[in-house]
Amino acid sequence: MDIRFVKISKSKMEDLVEYLIHETKNFEFEDWSRDNFLLDLPGKWESSLFIYINDQFAGFSINSLKCKSIHIHYFFIIRKFRNFGVGKLLLAECISLVQKRNLQKLVLKCHVKNFKALEFYIRNSLAITNLDESRTYYTLELKIKEMN
Ligand SMILES: CC(C)(COP(=O)(O)OP(=O)(O)OC[C@H]1O[C@@H](n2cnc3c(N)ncnc32)[C@H](O)[C@@H]1OP(=O)(O)O)[C@@H](O)C(=O)NCCC(=O)NCCS
Repeated sequence: MDIRFVKISKSKMEDLVEYLIHETKNFEFEDWSRDNFLLDLPGKWESSLFIYINDQFAGFSINSLKCKSIHIHYFFIIRKFRNFGVGKLLLAECISLVQKRNLQKLVLKCHVKNFKALEFYIRNSLAITNLDESRTYYTLELKIKEMN
């Protein structure tokens, strides 16, 4: 299996955005428009990744940099590539970005009813650190490096 990670530049995102909207439109926990996908955030175009399996687009992790952490805003594996360990590989690449850039942690929010994703993150070493006031989103984190 040939696995390739490609950094998402804004122009690559522009090329793929309609396809991403199409692929994600039935996902019940996020409803991202073109503007969401193309929004500029600190460090977004240096830390977000597409994954390709045998030259086929298999998923994305849209990230940004905040307070010495990589924040995952949207993590998604194309349906036909799920349950083969592709999500695990993409998450491992995000973790490796945290390490290479000498950052402290990986942080994300996950809907409390997205059980499959919660299991996936917890199996991959993230831990729940917070529940928001509306009790809708957990914050999950993986600490890589202690704060100085
Ligand atoms: C949650 C999500 C990212 C997981 O991605 P994935 O690629 O399916 O994850 P993995 O394949 O790494 O792991 C999932 C399952 O595959 C199994 N698996 C891992 N490697 C495998 C392999 N080589 N062969 C067969 N099964 C494998 C894992 O054990 C796991 O099974 P389990 O749930 O029965 O324990 C994916 O389901 C997804 O994109 N969901 C929709 C979007 C979403 O919820 N995003 C998160 C928003 S916060």
